[in-house]
Amino acid sequence: MMHLKTMPSEYRIRFLPIDRIIPAEEGENLLEIAMKAGVHINASCGGRGVCGKCRVRMAEGSLGSSIHPSISEGDHTMGFRLACASSVTGDAVIEIPLESQVDRSVLRRSTIMSDVDAGAIDGGLLREYGREPLVERHKLDLPRPDLQDNVSDAARITRELAPRLGCEELLLPLKVLRGLGTGLRNADWNVTVDVDVGVRREVTGITKGDREKSHYAIAVDIGTTTIAAQLLVCVGGASEGVILASSSDYNGQISFGEDVISRIMYTRKRGGLKKLQDVVVSTINLLIGELLYEGGIDPADISHIVVAGNTTMMHLFYGVEPKHIMLAPYAPLATAFAPVACSEIGVKTAAHTRLFAIPGVSSYVGGDIVSGVALSGMTESDEVSLFMDIGTNGEIVLGNGQWLLCASCSAGPAFEGGGIEFGMRAAPGAIEKVRVNPVTLEPMILTIGRAKPLGICGSGLIDIVAELFLAGVIDRNGKFSLDKTAARVREGVSGREYVLCFAAETNIERDIVLTEIDLDNIMRTKAAVYAGCKVLLEHGGLAFGDLGMVIIAGGFGHSIDVEKAIAVGLLPELPAERFRFMGNASLGGARIAAISRRFFEKANQVARSMTNIELSNDTQFMDEFMAAMFLPHTDDRAFPETIKALKGGSGFRVPGSGS
Ligand code: FES
Repeated sequence: MMHLKTMPSEYRIRFLPIDRIIPAEEGENLLEIAMKAGVHINASCGGRGVCGKCRVRMAEGSLGSSIHPSISEGDHTMGFRLACASSVTGDAVIEIPLESQVDRSVLRRSTIMSDVDAGAIDGGLLREYGREPLVERHKLDLPRPDLQDNVSDAARITRELAPRLGCEELLLPLKVLRGLGTGLRNADWNVTVDVDVGVRREVTGITKGDREKSHYAIAVDIGTTTIAAQLLVCVGGASEGVILASSSDYNGQISFGEDVISRIMYTRKRGGLKKLQDVVVSTINLLIGELLYEGGIDPADISHIVVAGNTTMMHLFYGVEPKHIMLAPYAPLATAFAPVACSEIGVKTAAHTRLFAIPGVSSYVGGDIVSGVALSGMTESDEVSLFMDIGTNGEIVLGNGQWLLCASCSAGPAFEGGGIEFGMRAAPGAIEKVRVNPVTLEPMILTIGRAKPLGICGSGLIDIVAELFLAGVIDRNGKFSLDKTAARVREGVSGREYVLCFAAETNIERDIVLTEIDLDNIMRTKAAVYAGCKVLLEHGGLAFGDLGMVIIAGGFGHSIDVEKAIAVGLLPELPAERFRFMGNASLGGARIAAISRRFFEKANQVARSMTNIELSNDTQFMDEFMAAMFLPHTDDRAFPETIKALKGGSGFRVPGSGS
């Protein structure tokens, strides 16, 4: 008897509002299909069915879906499902609701802000470190060989170029030698030679004619959530502008999980590492394409790219095994990556474009932090500063020109919207500022882009907790106070909650609330950051009052209200003038490193001089963490102004804020 092989049924899944149709097989997971189709859906937990963020609406057709507590019966009837918990059973039209979409428009905001500050920072650093790019570009008009001068083609180049570079030898790798003979002759011996002067003097590419003045580089910050890139002009003086174009996008990997641990978990699937590498590389390729278009330049004009990112992002970008980052004793495969040709890992530029990476320190203190610290100038001073970057993790560095201590506290993604019922990234519709009337408890909110509310981003969360705390709605344990009653404080499915927006005022047709569980997550995050800082200070024999400056890097830092962050005990109570915000310091450091070899060396030296303090099993950290699980802290002496405001019922002010 002949057996017929049953072919899986093929269906058509149409995603709206993007209007993309993709074929899918019976039983295929809807989130995976969306990824395949290039449709980004919020998937904070990486498809484990935990976060409830990947809500979609089945507008037509059918899906096989399991019941999830985050989808109410009413919503289920209206067609709402979790993408990660749904599988294909037939043709379907799937709407991605606003709150599940990944909106790119807001990213421009943070990049532009850092560009504005960039001019002044760049000028100062370039005067100090010099504008000598990591890859130099030299035009050569070589003498033609004859019987009196028949040294090899390679020797001819070295003879001409080495004296200019102040060296005797030049390395011409095999890939450059291949085709060299024909190339030189076709160019009539007029060529432009790119030389990597970062680590060793190695010729990275030879192009026809004079391209000496068409010399550009690209800096890329590979963040867990976003990727930002800038096109840089390599030639010019210290006072001339460096940034020709900027672009940014969400890291395509966000559909595979919000934080680094979810991404590492994904690499354990068959083909997972390759998939994540492909996704991040294609996001970068998209940005490079935009930069080239905006700058009106040719790919051959890019001599090199400098990337900075956390240790996990670097492993995924270079396509090397990241699993030991999450396993004790947390020894990563590498914290530094040797220069390679971009094409080796699929970055689409000219064959000669060289790739450099800012080195990191440990599994959880990566090149992004090193880049920011080098840029911040904290190592140029005797005064001790604290550098913080609060994103999906909290990284902190303490020190000055003589010493540096660093640590990472697993803060959790609360301030990026993870683990918060209505949490979201900073995007249009995110509630970013909140004030609560202390008498009526009515809120006043501002959203990004002044759009109808979709959820709450990190700065909004800090505001709301601080305001409700100062108004007595939240007690010092970080729980809703039972004494305070108001129309907006009610019992919800997971305990007490505060209604920030009623459904009719929102763009998601659901009440936006802050729940008791959200509060727990925010408390843990703020306590981990504060405790990490305290432990580092104690390792240095110092207290918060000894800090000359608190430098806050990252997009989140840019938008937080310092007073509110102090009121909840996330930041120490220090005068306003001691806080400085740097925006995307990782990108800034990569930018200067690309056009200043000495600054790149400086970043390498910063990485080497950082001593990493592992907090994960540190009992002192656990004690400090428990002490910080209180609003603002168990030690009232550390927050005198907040305590005074609480007792007096007056508004709280950071000393020196003048507001
Ligand atoms: S619940 Fe679906 S991605 Fe988290």
